[in-house]
Amino acid sequence: MATERTYVMVKPDGVQRGLCGEIMSRFEKKGLKIVAVKFMVIPRSVAESHYGEHKGKGFFNGLISFITSGPVLAMVLEGDNAVAVCRNMMGKTNPQESAPGTIRGDFGMVTGMNLIHGSDSVDSAKREISIFFKPEELMSYKRSADEWTYE
Ligand code: RTP
Ligand code: MG
Repeated sequence: MATERTYVMVKPDGVQRGLCGEIMSRFEKKGLKIVAVKFMVIPRSVAESHYGEHKGKGFFNGLISFITSGPVLAMVLEGDNAVAVCRNMMGKTNPQESAPGTIRGDFGMVTGMNLIHGSDSVDSAKREISIFFKPEELMSYKRSADEWTYE
């Protein structure tokens, strides 16, 4: 089994629209384990580091203003292939192209307000988790449901 951790974040639009519980519930029900959670307004410098790969692109400044405009629900989720599983549950970057049943497909209308972020690789996940969480904030524990989730 390829147990991975991924960084997932309900963006300010998801918080403002009251979708934190709905979104977290989807991941929990899928079988992903919550390893860490934090509710916070991201400082500008942290946002610029998090989205560093997009620096210089036309949408960068708008993206930084948006992601720092209000509280986000930051979390670390763990499970088999967690990075890809979460990305599939989020849907495509443009919600109008996201399949129904995905978070962006069910709740979003435009790319600039696409509700949720998820790490796009295991390396990105490691980098992003270390930006938002201290090692001691990450919980390692067994859930009794695990033996009814994995063979
Ligand atoms: P995210 O990083 O937020 O999880 O989203 P993603 O991987 O699906 O998309 P990415 O290419 O990493 O873009 C990061 C965020 O920037 C905004 N964006 N706007 N106007 C545009 O063309 C454009 N392209 C990207 C989106 O909010 C996207 O989620
Ligand atoms: Mg991305």
